[in-house]
Amino acid sequence: MPKFSCTGDSPSAVKADLLVVPAYSTENGFELGPGAKSLDKKSAGQLFSYLSGLGFKAKAGETVRYPSGDIAVAPAILVVGVGKKGEAGLQALRQAGAVLARSSKKVRRVVTSLHKAGARSAKGEAGVRAVVEGAALGGYEFLRYKKDPEPSRLAEVIFAECEPCKNAISEGLAVSDAVNWARDLVNEPAGAKPPAVIANQIKSKLESAGVSCEIWDRRRLAKERLGGVLGVGAGSANDPCLVRYEYKPRGKSQKKICLVGKGVVFDSGGLSLKPAEGMDTMKTDMSGAAAVAATMGALKSLGVKAHVIAFTPFVENMPSGSASKPGDILKFRNNKTAEVLNTDAEGRLILADALSLASEEKPAAIVDLATLTGACMVALGMKIFGVMGNDDKLARALIDAADQSGERGWHLPLPADYRKQIESPIADIKNIGNRYGGALTAGLFLQEFVDESIPWVHLDIAGPARADADEFEVTQGGTGVGVRTLLAWITEATSAA
Ligand code: BES
Ligand code: ZN
Ligand code: ZN
Repeated sequence: MPKFSCTGDSPSAVKADLLVVPAYSTENGFELGPGAKSLDKKSAGQLFSYLSGLGFKAKAGETVRYPSGDIAVAPAILVVGVGKKGEAGLQALRQAGAVLARSSKKVRRVVTSLHKAGARSAKGEAGVRAVVEGAALGGYEFLRYKKDPEPSRLAEVIFAECEPCKNAISEGLAVSDAVNWARDLVNEPAGAKPPAVIANQIKSKLESAGVSCEIWDRRRLAKERLGGVLGVGAGSANDPCLVRYEYKPRGKSQKKICLVGKGVVFDSGGLSLKPAEGMDTMKTDMSGAAAVAATMGALKSLGVKAHVIAFTPFVENMPSGSASKPGDILKFRNNKTAEVLNTDAEGRLILADALSLASEEKPAAIVDLATLTGACMVALGMKIFGVMGNDDKLARALIDAADQSGERGWHLPLPADYRKQIESPIADIKNIGNRYGGALTAGLFLQEFVDESIPWVHLDIAGPARADADEFEVTQGGTGVGVRTLLAWITEATSAA
């Protein structure tokens, strides 16, 4: 992670290896942005004609390199397109920051004026924070399994012509460090993160972040009657567990909220075994839990005032002689029972117990995150998570938080008459519905475990939890989706309280 700092000096005067400046796209070409215009003047218009000659359009992410000659102290200039001038919001700046980080892997010191390119609400500190987030996220690398890793050399990013912006930098880093930690947890191979191992890793990291963690082992799970977690974990050689997190700031604490995350460290499907193509990415099936753990870890540095309690069950869903069988009936924390007709619909079974625990805390809101259904990916694709719940206002708040933080969610319904699909002749419910609307029947299953007087929202992140390729601030592999949304929502909900 590079160090970020700011200076009042003009971009062309700062000693660095690369100077990164913005440009806007226009109807018939492009316009140079803050910091770039004066460079063009110094070059007597040569910078502009060079870019024009290459057909540069300043589309978001489009870049051109230009040797500085004597127009700047830095030997090279990188012009980055940020799209239309009036539309350069926070997300355009995050994307530009990501482009900066990706284009600077071979240099050590970069100076930039990208933070000044934003329109309206993306100015000043907000602009700096967005570029920090984009650069820190886009520069993410997971190299620990390479024999000869070649990590980015970028060590320092300097914001030029900038007012003091320590807070903006540290907030941007708090968020992006959290996302990147979630990515680390997700990218780790399943063989290296059995439930007890990942739970202990999380606990030791969070203890220095003002969050207390309790790990419930198999015996404790039994004592607490978490039949869903035990049932899904029954087939694995590695015992399941559950982490209970608590963040309670000093002083009169405000709202109490609960987070829940699906932590299936590997989803083979169990006895309802997945085909090989469906299984190869299933180390990422704990992305909900990773997002929750990482969010908890950022609360203190963001100065969150709310009292936040979280639960993440960790299990490995495996077939074996001791595995739960199709047709088995599990009994959950809240005494309801479910007939398990497909052991691959396991996420809802572990979340059932965790949502019951969350409800017992009587919080003002519950939000759960889970890579729950392939059906949600069919509905919304790989970049948008599904938002379901019992409270439209809370759903709206999470969608707004997503928009504001650079993620995307879409409200899906939980139609009461679809509940018929999960009725069972012999248990209270069954764990699968029919072929269609699978994201919704999964959501309806979860609803059975939430106290209906508590506003609750479920985020089905199966699509955006993993990316096939790098794209701006999103990196290939685990994306850490949900962390930005949760942090934006919690900080907003807290400041309003
Ligand atoms: N972990 C999967 C959902 C998933 C699929 C996440 C692909 C990310 C990528 C979940 O446990 C699962 O297998 N769901 C089944 C449910 C079905 C059996 C009712 C599914 O979606 O096919
Ligand atoms: Zn599954
Ligand atoms: Zn799963």
